[in-house]
Amino acid sequence: MDFKRYIAGKIKAGDLSEGEIYDLLALPPNTEMGDFALPCFRLAKTMRRSPALIAEEIAAAYPKDEIVSGVSAVNGYVNFRIDRAFWAKETLERVLSEGERYGSSDEGAGRVVCIDYSSVNIAKPFHIGHLSTTVLGSALYKLHRFLGYKPVGINHLGDYGTQFGKLISAYKRWGSKEEVEKGGLRALNALYVRFHEEAEKDGSLNDEARAFFKKIEDKDEESLALFEWFKELTLKEVGRIYDLLDVHFDSWAGESFYNDKMAPVIEELEQKGLLVESEGAKIVDLEAYGMPPCIILRSDGASLYATRDIAAAIYRKKTYDFYKCLYVVAYQQNLHFKQFFKVLELMGKEWAKDLVHVAYGMVSLEDGSMSTRKGKVVYLSDVIDKCVSKALSIITEKNPALENKEETAKTVGVGAVIFGALYNSKIKDITFSYDKVLNFEGETSCYVQYTCARANSVLEKGGVPEVYEADDICPQEFELVKTLADFPSVLKDALAKYEPSLVARYAVDLAQRYNKFYFDCNILGAEEKERNFRLALTKATLTTLKNALSLLGIGVPEKM
Ligand code: ARG
Repeated sequence: MDFKRYIAGKIKAGDLSEGEIYDLLALPPNTEMGDFALPCFRLAKTMRRSPALIAEEIAAAYPKDEIVSGVSAVNGYVNFRIDRAFWAKETLERVLSEGERYGSSDEGAGRVVCIDYSSVNIAKPFHIGHLSTTVLGSALYKLHRFLGYKPVGINHLGDYGTQFGKLISAYKRWGSKEEVEKGGLRALNALYVRFHEEAEKDGSLNDEARAFFKKIEDKDEESLALFEWFKELTLKEVGRIYDLLDVHFDSWAGESFYNDKMAPVIEELEQKGLLVESEGAKIVDLEAYGMPPCIILRSDGASLYATRDIAAAIYRKKTYDFYKCLYVVAYQQNLHFKQFFKVLELMGKEWAKDLVHVAYGMVSLEDGSMSTRKGKVVYLSDVIDKCVSKALSIITEKNPALENKEETAKTVGVGAVIFGALYNSKIKDITFSYDKVLNFEGETSCYVQYTCARANSVLEKGGVPEVYEADDICPQEFELVKTLADFPSVLKDALAKYEPSLVARYAVDLAQRYNKFYFDCNILGAEEKERNFRLALTKATLTTLKNALSLLGIGVPEKM
Protein backbone atom coordinates (compact mmCIF):
# COMPACT_ATOMS: atom_id res chain seq x y z
CA MET A 1 0.00 0.00 0.00
CA ASP A 2 1.22 3.49 -0.83
CA PHE A 3 0.82 5.20 2.53
CA LYS A 4 2.16 8.44 1.18
CA ARG A 5 -0.62 8.59 -1.36
CA TYR A 6 -3.17 7.64 1.28
CA ILE A 7 -2.06 10.46 3.55
CA ALA A 8 -1.78 13.01 0.75
CA GLY A 9 -5.38 12.29 -0.21
CA LYS A 10 -6.61 13.33 3.20
CA ILE A 11 -4.61 16.49 3.78
CA LYS A 12 -5.95 19.94 3.09
CA ALA A 13 -3.17 22.48 2.82
CA GLY A 14 -3.96 25.85 1.27
CA ASP A 15 -4.18 25.60 -2.50
CA LEU A 16 -1.75 22.72 -2.89
CA SER A 17 -2.96 19.89 -5.07
CA GLU A 18 -2.85 16.27 -3.90
CA GLY A 19 0.10 15.65 -6.18
CA GLU A 20 2.03 18.57 -4.76
CA ILE A 21 1.37 17.39 -1.24
CA TYR A 22 2.48 13.90 -2.25
CA ASP A 23 5.77 15.29 -3.51
CA LEU A 24 6.29 17.32 -0.37
CA LEU A 25 5.78 14.40 2.01
CA ALA A 26 9.17 13.28 3.20
CA LEU A 27 10.74 10.75 5.51
CA PRO A 28 11.53 12.17 8.94
CA PRO A 29 15.14 11.77 10.11
CA ASN A 30 14.10 9.07 12.56
CA THR A 31 11.06 6.87 12.94
CA GLU A 32 10.49 8.00 16.52
CA MET A 33 9.09 11.22 15.10
CA GLY A 34 6.83 9.56 12.59
CA ASP A 35 6.88 7.71 9.29
CA PHE A 36 6.10 10.63 7.02
CA ALA A 37 6.44 14.37 7.51
CA LEU A 38 4.92 17.34 5.74
CA PRO A 39 7.08 20.47 5.90
CA CYS A 40 4.87 23.60 6.00
CA PHE A 41 7.44 26.27 5.22
CA ARG A 42 6.50 26.73 1.61
CA LEU A 43 2.87 27.26 2.62
CA ALA A 44 3.60 30.19 4.90
CA LYS A 45 3.65 32.70 2.08
CA THR A 46 0.29 31.88 0.51
CA MET A 47 -1.46 31.04 3.75
CA ARG A 48 -0.03 34.09 5.54
CA ARG A 49 0.61 32.31 8.81
CA SER A 50 3.68 30.88 10.46
CA PRO A 51 4.71 27.36 9.43
CA ALA A 52 4.23 26.24 13.04
CA LEU A 53 0.66 27.45 13.07
CA ILE A 54 -0.11 25.91 9.70
CA ALA A 55 1.32 22.58 10.84
CA GLU A 56 -0.93 22.69 13.89
CA GLU A 57 -4.00 23.44 11.81
CA ILE A 58 -3.29 20.65 9.35
CA ALA A 59 -2.61 18.18 12.16
CA ALA A 60 -5.84 19.11 13.93
CA ALA A 61 -7.90 18.74 10.75
CA TYR A 62 -6.41 15.40 9.71
CA PRO A 63 -8.86 12.51 10.27
CA LYS A 64 -7.06 9.72 12.10
CA ASP A 65 -8.12 6.15 11.47
CA GLU A 66 -6.89 2.55 11.75
CA ILE A 67 -4.17 3.28 9.20
CA VAL A 68 -2.78 6.59 10.37
CA SER A 69 -2.88 6.35 14.13
CA GLY A 70 -0.83 9.37 15.11
CA VAL A 71 -0.58 12.93 13.83
CA SER A 72 1.43 15.68 15.49
CA ALA A 73 2.78 19.11 14.69
CA VAL A 74 6.41 19.81 15.55
CA ASN A 75 8.35 22.92 14.54
CA GLY A 76 6.53 23.55 11.30
CA TYR A 77 6.28 19.89 10.32
CA VAL A 78 3.26 17.62 10.49
CA ASN A 79 4.37 14.13 11.44
CA PHE A 80 2.28 11.12 10.54
CA ARG A 81 2.56 7.78 12.18
CA ILE A 82 1.31 4.68 10.45
CA ASP A 83 -0.28 2.16 12.75
CA ARG A 84 2.38 -0.52 13.29
CA ALA A 85 -0.01 -3.42 13.46
CA PHE A 86 -1.82 -2.31 10.34
CA TRP A 87 1.44 -1.86 8.45
CA ALA A 88 2.66 -5.27 9.52
CA LYS A 89 -0.54 -7.10 8.65
CA GLU A 90 -0.87 -5.37 5.33
CA THR A 91 2.72 -6.15 4.38
CA LEU A 92 2.65 -9.75 5.47
CA GLU A 93 -0.62 -10.41 3.70
CA ARG A 94 0.78 -9.01 0.53
CA VAL A 95 4.06 -10.89 0.64
CA LEU A 96 2.47 -14.18 1.62
CA SER A 97 -0.33 -14.02 -0.91
CA GLU A 98 1.90 -12.91 -3.79
CA GLY A 99 4.66 -15.39 -2.93
CA GLU A 100 7.03 -15.85 -5.85
CA ARG A 101 5.46 -12.84 -7.52
CA TYR A 102 6.04 -10.50 -4.57
CA GLY A 103 7.83 -7.41 -5.86
CA SER A 104 6.61 -7.84 -9.43
CA SER A 105 4.53 -5.21 -11.17
CA ASP A 106 3.10 -4.30 -14.54
CA GLU A 107 4.92 -1.01 -14.94
CA GLY A 108 6.38 -2.30 -18.21
CA ALA A 109 2.92 -2.91 -19.70
CA GLY A 110 4.45 -5.38 -22.13
CA ARG A 111 6.83 -2.87 -23.71
CA VAL A 112 9.80 -4.46 -25.43
CA VAL A 113 13.30 -3.87 -24.10
CA CYS A 114 16.19 -5.33 -26.09
CA ILE A 115 19.16 -6.22 -23.93
CA ASP A 116 22.47 -6.88 -25.66
CA TYR A 117 24.71 -8.64 -23.16
CA SER A 118 27.50 -11.15 -22.73
CA SER A 119 28.09 -11.00 -26.50
CA VAL A 120 30.99 -13.43 -26.57
CA ASN A 121 33.61 -13.69 -29.25
CA ILE A 122 33.82 -16.90 -31.20
CA ALA A 123 37.01 -18.89 -30.66
CA LYS A 124 38.19 -16.47 -27.99
CA PRO A 125 38.43 -17.34 -24.31
CA PHE A 126 35.35 -16.67 -22.21
CA HIS A 127 37.19 -14.97 -19.41
CA ILE A 128 36.68 -13.09 -16.18
CA GLY A 129 36.24 -9.89 -18.19
CA HIS A 130 32.93 -11.28 -19.48
CA LEU A 131 31.56 -11.93 -16.03
CA SER A 132 29.98 -8.52 -15.46
CA THR A 133 28.24 -8.16 -18.80
CA THR A 134 26.88 -11.69 -18.47
CA VAL A 135 25.47 -11.48 -14.97
CA LEU A 136 24.48 -7.80 -15.15
CA GLY A 137 22.68 -8.31 -18.42
CA SER A 138 20.97 -11.42 -17.16
CA ALA A 139 19.84 -9.68 -13.97
CA LEU A 140 18.47 -6.78 -16.00
CA TYR A 141 16.66 -9.28 -18.19
CA LYS A 142 14.99 -10.94 -15.21
CA LEU A 143 14.22 -7.62 -13.58
CA HIS A 144 12.53 -6.30 -16.70
CA ARG A 145 10.46 -9.43 -17.06
CA PHE A 146 9.44 -9.26 -13.39
CA LEU A 147 8.28 -5.68 -13.79
CA GLY A 148 6.09 -6.41 -16.77
CA TYR A 149 8.37 -5.57 -19.68
CA LYS A 150 9.05 -7.92 -22.53
CA PRO A 151 12.82 -8.31 -22.60
CA VAL A 152 14.63 -9.66 -25.65
CA GLY A 153 18.02 -11.04 -24.69
CA ILE A 154 20.53 -10.70 -27.49
CA ASN A 155 23.95 -12.29 -27.70
CA HIS A 156 25.65 -10.11 -30.31
CA LEU A 157 28.27 -12.74 -31.08
CA GLY A 158 31.70 -11.58 -32.13
CA ASP A 159 31.73 -13.86 -35.15
CA TYR A 160 33.27 -11.63 -37.74
CA GLY A 161 36.75 -10.28 -38.27
CA THR A 162 40.25 -11.00 -39.48
CA GLN A 163 41.05 -12.99 -36.34
CA PHE A 164 39.23 -15.95 -37.88
CA GLY A 165 41.62 -15.86 -40.80
CA LYS A 166 44.49 -15.98 -38.33
CA LEU A 167 42.97 -18.91 -36.53
CA ILE A 168 42.44 -20.91 -39.71
CA SER A 169 45.98 -20.22 -40.79
CA ALA A 170 47.31 -21.30 -37.38
CA TYR A 171 45.11 -24.37 -37.31
CA LYS A 172 46.22 -25.51 -40.72
CA ARG A 173 49.85 -25.00 -39.86
CA TRP A 174 50.10 -26.33 -36.31
CA GLY A 175 46.75 -27.64 -35.19
CA SER A 176 45.08 -31.01 -35.14
CA LYS A 177 41.49 -32.08 -34.94
CA GLU A 178 42.04 -34.24 -31.85
CA GLU A 179 43.82 -31.50 -29.99
CA VAL A 180 41.15 -28.93 -30.62
CA GLU A 181 38.36 -31.36 -29.88
CA LYS A 182 40.00 -32.21 -26.59
CA GLY A 183 41.23 -28.78 -25.59
CA GLY A 184 38.30 -26.70 -26.84
CA LEU A 185 38.64 -22.95 -26.44
CA ARG A 186 41.97 -23.30 -24.69
CA ALA A 187 43.45 -25.15 -27.63
CA LEU A 188 42.10 -22.54 -30.01
CA ASN A 189 43.53 -19.79 -27.87
CA ALA A 190 46.92 -21.50 -27.84
CA LEU A 191 46.84 -21.53 -31.66
CA TYR A 192 45.89 -17.88 -31.70
CA VAL A 193 48.73 -16.96 -29.37
CA ARG A 194 51.17 -18.99 -31.42
CA PHE A 195 50.04 -17.20 -34.56
CA HIS A 196 50.91 -13.83 -33.03
CA GLU A 197 54.32 -15.04 -31.91
CA GLU A 198 55.17 -16.48 -35.30
CA ALA A 199 53.75 -13.53 -37.22
CA GLU A 200 56.14 -11.24 -35.40
CA LYS A 201 58.96 -13.17 -37.01
CA ASP A 202 57.30 -13.77 -40.35
CA GLY A 203 55.07 -10.99 -41.63
CA SER A 204 53.76 -13.03 -44.54
CA LEU A 205 51.59 -14.95 -42.08
CA ASN A 206 49.36 -11.92 -41.82
CA ASP A 207 48.77 -11.95 -45.56
CA GLU A 208 47.90 -15.61 -45.36
CA ALA A 209 45.44 -14.86 -42.56
CA ARG A 210 43.82 -12.10 -44.60
CA ALA A 211 43.46 -14.49 -47.50
CA PHE A 212 41.74 -17.05 -45.30
CA PHE A 213 39.42 -14.44 -43.95
CA LYS A 214 38.51 -13.47 -47.48
CA LYS A 215 37.79 -17.13 -48.17
CA ILE A 216 35.31 -17.21 -45.31
CA GLU A 217 33.62 -14.16 -46.76
CA ASP A 218 33.54 -15.73 -50.19
CA LYS A 219 31.94 -18.81 -48.62
CA ASP A 220 34.81 -21.13 -49.50
CA GLU A 221 33.64 -24.52 -48.29
CA GLU A 222 36.66 -25.60 -46.26
CA SER A 223 37.25 -22.26 -44.54
CA LEU A 224 33.59 -21.83 -43.77
CA ALA A 225 33.38 -25.34 -42.31
CA LEU A 226 36.33 -24.63 -40.04
CA PHE A 227 34.77 -21.41 -38.91
CA GLU A 228 31.46 -23.14 -38.18
CA TRP A 229 33.31 -25.77 -36.20
CA PHE A 230 35.06 -23.12 -34.09
CA LYS A 231 31.72 -21.50 -33.51
CA GLU A 232 30.12 -24.74 -32.42
CA LEU A 233 32.97 -25.43 -29.99
CA THR A 234 32.67 -21.97 -28.51
CA LEU A 235 28.92 -22.11 -28.07
CA LYS A 236 29.15 -25.51 -26.44
CA GLU A 237 31.62 -24.32 -23.83
CA VAL A 238 29.94 -21.03 -23.26
CA GLY A 239 26.61 -22.82 -23.03
CA ARG A 240 27.79 -24.84 -20.06
CA ILE A 241 28.61 -21.61 -18.22
CA TYR A 242 25.32 -19.99 -19.20
CA ASP A 243 23.50 -23.00 -17.78
CA LEU A 244 25.41 -22.73 -14.52
CA LEU A 245 24.70 -19.02 -14.26
CA ASP A 246 21.06 -19.41 -15.35
CA VAL A 247 21.60 -17.07 -18.29
CA HIS A 248 19.42 -17.19 -21.40
CA PHE A 249 19.10 -15.48 -24.76
CA ASP A 250 16.31 -15.03 -27.25
CA SER A 251 18.57 -14.15 -30.15
CA TRP A 252 22.08 -15.12 -31.14
CA ALA A 253 22.32 -12.78 -34.09
CA GLY A 254 26.00 -11.85 -34.09
CA GLU A 255 28.10 -9.46 -36.10
CA SER A 256 28.15 -11.63 -39.21
CA PHE A 257 24.35 -11.65 -39.24
CA TYR A 258 24.57 -8.09 -40.51
CA ASN A 259 26.82 -8.87 -43.48
CA ASP A 260 23.97 -8.35 -45.92
CA LYS A 261 22.27 -5.61 -43.93
CA MET A 262 24.90 -2.91 -44.16
CA ALA A 263 24.65 -1.95 -47.81
CA PRO A 264 21.30 -0.18 -47.37
CA VAL A 265 22.65 1.60 -44.30
CA ILE A 266 25.65 2.88 -46.21
CA GLU A 267 23.37 3.99 -49.01
CA GLU A 268 21.19 5.87 -46.56
CA LEU A 269 24.22 7.54 -44.99
CA GLU A 270 25.37 8.52 -48.45
CA GLN A 271 21.95 9.85 -49.40
CA LYS A 272 21.69 11.93 -46.27
CA GLY A 273 25.06 13.48 -47.04
CA LEU A 274 26.65 12.11 -43.90
CA LEU A 275 29.46 10.07 -45.48
CA VAL A 276 32.77 11.82 -46.07
CA GLU A 277 35.91 10.45 -47.74
CA SER A 278 38.98 10.59 -45.61
CA GLU A 279 42.26 8.99 -46.59
CA GLY A 280 40.37 6.50 -48.70
CA ALA A 281 38.03 5.54 -45.86
CA LYS A 282 34.41 6.57 -45.50
CA ILE A 283 33.58 8.27 -42.25
CA VAL A 284 30.92 10.29 -40.49
CA ASP A 285 32.50 13.46 -39.21
CA LEU A 286 31.64 14.02 -35.55
CA GLU A 287 33.97 16.90 -34.83
CA ALA A 288 31.04 19.20 -34.13
CA TYR A 289 30.15 16.89 -31.26
CA GLY A 290 33.63 16.72 -29.84
CA MET A 291 34.28 13.19 -31.02
CA PRO A 292 36.66 11.55 -33.46
CA PRO A 293 35.02 10.45 -36.72
CA CYS A 294 33.00 7.26 -36.84
CA ILE A 295 34.62 5.06 -39.50
CA ILE A 296 32.01 3.28 -41.61
CA LEU A 297 34.13 1.69 -44.34
CA ARG A 298 37.86 1.13 -44.29
CA SER A 299 39.93 2.12 -47.30
CA ASP A 300 39.84 -1.52 -48.47
CA GLY A 301 36.05 -1.38 -48.37
CA ALA A 302 35.66 -3.52 -45.25
CA SER A 303 33.00 -2.62 -42.73
CA LEU A 304 33.74 -2.05 -39.07
CA TYR A 305 32.41 -2.85 -35.64
CA ALA A 306 30.47 0.44 -35.65
CA THR A 307 28.98 -0.22 -39.10
CA ARG A 308 27.58 -3.49 -37.80
CA ASP A 309 26.24 -1.88 -34.69
CA ILE A 310 24.43 0.76 -36.74
CA ALA A 311 22.89 -1.93 -38.94
CA ALA A 312 22.04 -3.99 -35.85
CA ALA A 313 20.26 -1.11 -34.12
CA ILE A 314 18.16 -0.45 -37.22
CA TYR A 315 17.37 -4.14 -37.55
CA ARG A 316 16.36 -4.38 -33.89
CA LYS A 317 14.08 -1.38 -34.14
CA LYS A 318 12.42 -2.85 -37.21
CA THR A 319 12.16 -6.36 -35.79
CA TYR A 320 11.21 -5.70 -32.18
CA ASP A 321 10.01 -2.10 -32.19
CA PHE A 322 11.74 -1.70 -28.85
CA TYR A 323 10.89 0.82 -26.20
CA LYS A 324 14.52 0.76 -25.10
CA CYS A 325 17.60 -1.02 -26.37
CA LEU A 326 20.29 -1.62 -23.75
CA TYR A 327 23.93 -2.47 -24.39
CA VAL A 328 25.61 -3.98 -21.37
CA VAL A 329 29.22 -3.36 -22.34
CA ALA A 330 32.35 -2.23 -20.45
CA TYR A 331 33.07 1.48 -20.14
CA GLN A 332 36.15 1.04 -22.34
CA GLN A 333 33.68 1.21 -25.22
CA ASN A 334 32.03 4.47 -24.10
CA LEU A 335 33.24 6.32 -27.15
CA HIS A 336 32.10 3.63 -29.57
CA PHE A 337 28.55 3.82 -28.26
CA LYS A 338 28.47 7.59 -28.12
CA GLN A 339 29.66 7.68 -31.72
CA PHE A 340 27.24 5.29 -33.28
CA PHE A 341 24.30 6.58 -31.23
CA LYS A 342 25.13 10.01 -32.62
CA VAL A 343 25.35 8.69 -36.19
CA LEU A 344 21.87 7.19 -35.85
CA GLU A 345 20.58 10.47 -34.47
CA LEU A 346 22.10 12.33 -37.41
CA MET A 347 20.40 9.85 -39.73
CA GLY A 348 17.15 11.15 -38.27
CA LYS A 349 16.24 8.06 -36.25
CA GLU A 350 14.26 9.67 -33.50
CA TRP A 351 14.49 6.45 -31.51
CA ALA A 352 18.26 6.89 -31.15
CA LYS A 353 17.39 8.46 -27.79
CA ASP A 354 16.13 5.06 -26.64
CA LEU A 355 19.52 3.40 -27.02
CA VAL A 356 21.29 3.08 -23.70
CA HIS A 357 24.86 2.08 -23.06
CA VAL A 358 24.81 0.38 -19.65
CA ALA A 359 28.50 0.72 -18.90
CA TYR A 360 30.30 -1.18 -16.17
CA GLY A 361 33.73 -1.31 -14.62
CA MET A 362 36.50 -3.85 -14.87
CA VAL A 363 36.81 -7.05 -12.89
CA SER A 364 40.27 -8.21 -12.08
CA LEU A 365 41.54 -11.04 -9.98
CA GLU A 366 43.65 -10.45 -6.89
CA ASP A 367 46.65 -11.94 -8.61
CA GLY A 368 47.09 -9.60 -11.54
CA SER A 369 45.71 -8.87 -14.96
CA MET A 370 45.53 -10.76 -18.19
CA SER A 371 46.25 -10.40 -21.85
CA THR A 372 44.50 -12.53 -24.45
CA ARG A 373 47.18 -12.02 -27.05
CA LYS A 374 49.96 -13.24 -24.80
CA GLY A 375 47.82 -16.14 -23.63
CA LYS A 376 47.57 -14.98 -20.03
CA VAL A 377 43.91 -15.60 -19.45
CA VAL A 378 41.70 -16.11 -16.44
CA TYR A 379 38.93 -18.36 -17.71
CA LEU A 380 35.53 -17.71 -16.21
CA SER A 381 34.93 -21.46 -15.97
CA ASP A 382 38.04 -21.79 -13.79
CA VAL A 383 36.83 -19.04 -11.50
CA ILE A 384 33.44 -20.72 -11.15
CA ASP A 385 34.90 -24.18 -10.61
CA LYS A 386 37.27 -22.87 -7.98
CA CYS A 387 34.45 -21.09 -6.15
CA VAL A 388 32.34 -24.24 -6.17
CA SER A 389 35.15 -26.39 -4.81
CA LYS A 390 35.99 -23.83 -2.12
CA ALA A 391 32.31 -23.71 -1.21
CA LEU A 392 32.33 -27.50 -0.91
CA SER A 393 35.19 -27.50 1.58
CA ILE A 394 33.60 -24.72 3.66
CA ILE A 395 30.27 -26.53 3.74
CA THR A 396 31.87 -29.86 4.57
CA GLU A 397 33.68 -28.24 7.46
CA LYS A 398 30.64 -26.38 8.78
CA ASN A 399 28.13 -29.15 8.37
CA PRO A 400 29.70 -32.55 7.67
CA ALA A 401 26.36 -34.38 7.94
CA LEU A 402 24.64 -32.29 5.26
CA GLU A 403 23.02 -34.27 2.46
CA ASN A 404 23.48 -33.18 -1.16
CA LYS A 405 26.71 -31.38 -0.35
CA GLU A 406 27.75 -31.23 -4.01
CA GLU A 407 24.48 -29.69 -5.16
CA THR A 408 24.57 -27.17 -2.33
CA ALA A 409 28.18 -26.26 -3.04
CA LYS A 410 27.26 -25.60 -6.65
CA THR A 411 24.43 -23.26 -5.68
CA VAL A 412 26.62 -21.51 -3.14
CA GLY A 413 29.74 -21.28 -5.29
CA VAL A 414 27.98 -20.09 -8.43
CA GLY A 415 25.97 -17.64 -6.34
CA ALA A 416 29.18 -16.25 -4.87
CA VAL A 417 30.60 -15.54 -8.32
CA ILE A 418 27.43 -13.78 -9.48
CA PHE A 419 26.88 -11.84 -6.29
CA GLY A 420 30.54 -10.84 -6.14
CA ALA A 421 30.18 -9.23 -9.55
CA LEU A 422 26.85 -7.56 -8.77
CA TYR A 423 27.26 -6.25 -5.26
CA ASN A 424 29.01 -3.01 -6.15
CA SER A 425 27.67 -0.19 -8.23
CA LYS A 426 28.25 -1.40 -11.77
CA ILE A 427 30.58 1.36 -12.88
CA LYS A 428 33.17 0.56 -10.20
CA ASP A 429 36.25 -1.47 -11.04
CA ILE A 430 36.35 -4.46 -8.76
CA THR A 431 38.92 -6.94 -7.59
CA PHE A 432 37.49 -10.39 -7.30
CA SER A 433 38.55 -12.21 -4.15
CA TYR A 434 37.55 -15.81 -3.42
CA ASP A 435 37.74 -15.32 0.33
CA LYS A 436 35.62 -12.22 0.20
CA VAL A 437 32.80 -13.63 -1.94
CA LEU A 438 32.70 -16.82 0.14
CA ASN A 439 32.69 -15.14 3.54
CA PHE A 440 29.62 -16.47 5.34
CA GLU A 441 29.57 -13.46 7.65
CA GLY A 442 30.18 -10.87 4.96
CA GLU A 443 28.01 -8.97 2.54
CA THR A 444 27.70 -12.02 0.34
CA SER A 445 25.22 -14.34 -1.26
CA CYS A 446 26.24 -17.16 1.06
CA TYR A 447 25.34 -14.96 4.01
CA VAL A 448 21.92 -14.43 2.44
CA GLN A 449 21.59 -18.11 1.53
CA TYR A 450 22.57 -19.08 5.04
CA THR A 451 19.89 -16.78 6.41
CA CYS A 452 17.37 -18.50 4.14
CA ALA A 453 18.44 -21.89 5.48
CA ARG A 454 17.98 -20.53 9.00
CA ALA A 455 14.49 -19.28 8.17
CA ASN A 456 13.69 -22.61 6.53
CA SER A 457 14.68 -24.49 9.63
CA VAL A 458 12.57 -22.20 11.85
CA LEU A 459 9.57 -22.85 9.60
CA GLU A 460 10.25 -26.55 9.58
CA LYS A 461 9.96 -26.59 13.35
CA GLY A 462 7.19 -24.04 13.75
CA GLY A 463 5.14 -24.38 10.58
CA VAL A 464 3.59 -21.54 8.62
CA PRO A 465 0.57 -20.16 10.48
CA GLU A 466 -2.76 -19.75 8.70
CA VAL A 467 -3.72 -16.83 10.88
CA TYR A 468 -1.46 -14.30 12.42
CA GLU A 469 -2.02 -10.98 13.99
CA ALA A 470 0.25 -8.41 15.43
CA ASP A 471 -0.47 -5.97 18.16
CA ASP A 472 2.61 -5.10 20.15
CA ILE A 473 5.34 -4.77 17.59
CA CYS A 474 8.90 -4.45 18.81
CA PRO A 475 11.45 -2.34 16.93
CA GLN A 476 13.25 -5.36 15.45
CA GLU A 477 9.97 -6.64 14.04
CA PHE A 478 9.01 -3.26 12.74
CA GLU A 479 12.34 -2.69 10.99
CA LEU A 480 11.87 -6.04 9.31
CA VAL A 481 8.32 -5.21 8.22
CA LYS A 482 9.40 -1.91 6.76
CA THR A 483 12.25 -3.49 4.86
CA LEU A 484 9.93 -6.16 3.49
CA ALA A 485 7.48 -3.50 2.39
CA ASP A 486 10.28 -1.68 0.58
CA PHE A 487 11.07 -4.49 -1.83
CA PRO A 488 8.82 -3.42 -4.75
CA SER A 489 10.20 0.11 -4.72
CA VAL A 490 13.78 -1.17 -4.56
CA LEU A 491 13.13 -3.19 -7.71
CA LYS A 492 11.60 -0.22 -9.46
CA ASP A 493 14.60 1.88 -8.57
CA ALA A 494 17.07 -0.83 -9.62
CA LEU A 495 15.44 -1.04 -13.02
CA ALA A 496 15.26 2.72 -13.49
CA LYS A 497 18.98 3.00 -12.73
CA TYR A 498 19.95 -0.26 -14.46
CA GLU A 499 21.56 -1.15 -11.17
CA PRO A 500 21.07 -4.75 -9.98
CA SER A 501 23.50 -3.97 -7.14
CA LEU A 502 20.55 -2.31 -5.39
CA VAL A 503 18.81 -5.69 -5.31
CA ALA A 504 21.95 -7.39 -4.00
CA ARG A 505 22.39 -4.78 -1.29
CA TYR A 506 18.75 -5.02 -0.38
CA ALA A 507 19.08 -8.78 0.09
CA VAL A 508 21.99 -8.33 2.49
CA ASP A 509 20.13 -5.61 4.37
CA LEU A 510 17.02 -7.74 4.73
CA ALA A 511 19.06 -10.74 5.83
CA GLN A 512 20.84 -8.64 8.45
CA ARG A 513 17.55 -7.35 9.81
CA TYR A 514 16.14 -10.83 9.95
CA ASN A 515 19.16 -12.08 11.86
CA LYS A 516 18.87 -9.24 14.34
CA PHE A 517 15.23 -10.14 14.85
CA TYR A 518 16.11 -13.83 15.10
CA PHE A 519 18.68 -13.30 17.84
CA ASP A 520 16.78 -10.65 19.78
CA CYS A 521 13.26 -12.07 19.64
CA ASN A 522 12.23 -15.51 20.67
CA ILE A 523 10.27 -17.03 17.80
CA LEU A 524 9.41 -20.62 18.66
CA GLY A 525 9.18 -20.07 22.39
CA ALA A 526 6.85 -17.08 22.26
CA GLU A 527 3.19 -17.31 23.28
CA GLU A 528 0.89 -18.38 20.47
CA LYS A 529 -0.20 -15.07 19.01
CA GLU A 530 3.28 -13.64 19.01
CA ARG A 531 4.76 -16.91 17.78
CA ASN A 532 2.42 -16.99 14.81
CA PHE A 533 3.21 -13.43 13.88
CA ARG A 534 6.94 -14.12 14.07
CA LEU A 535 6.60 -17.26 12.00
CA ALA A 536 4.70 -15.30 9.36
CA LEU A 537 7.49 -12.70 9.40
CA THR A 538 9.98 -15.51 8.90
CA LYS A 539 8.07 -16.90 5.96
CA ALA A 540 7.73 -13.46 4.37
CA THR A 541 11.45 -12.84 4.78
CA LEU A 542 12.32 -16.17 3.19
CA THR A 543 9.99 -15.46 0.26
CA THR A 544 11.43 -12.02 -0.34
CA LEU A 545 15.05 -13.12 -0.04
CA LYS A 546 14.41 -15.92 -2.53
CA ASN A 547 12.76 -13.53 -4.96
CA ALA A 548 15.65 -11.09 -4.67
CA LEU A 549 18.29 -13.73 -5.24
CA SER A 550 16.40 -15.34 -8.07
CA LEU A 551 16.33 -12.02 -9.93
CA LEU A 552 20.11 -12.13 -9.79
CA GLY A 553 20.17 -15.72 -11.04
CA ILE A 554 21.03 -17.21 -7.66
CA GLY A 555 19.33 -20.21 -6.11
CA VAL A 556 18.68 -21.00 -2.47
CA PRO A 557 19.47 -24.38 -0.89
CA GLU A 558 16.94 -25.68 1.65
CA LYS A 559 19.69 -26.50 4.11
CA MET A 560 23.27 -25.43 4.49
N1 ARG B 1 31.93 -8.77 -28.59
C1 ARG B 1 32.17 -7.44 -28.09
C2 ARG B 1 33.38 -7.44 -27.20
O1 ARG B 1 33.77 -8.47 -26.68
C3 ARG B 1 31.02 -6.89 -27.34
C4 ARG B 1 29.80 -6.62 -28.17
C5 ARG B 1 28.83 -5.74 -27.47
N2 ARG B 1 27.65 -5.48 -28.23
C6 ARG B 1 27.56 -4.63 -29.25
N3 ARG B 1 26.41 -4.52 -29.87
N4 ARG B 1 28.58 -3.90 -29.64
O2 ARG B 1 33.95 -6.39 -26.99
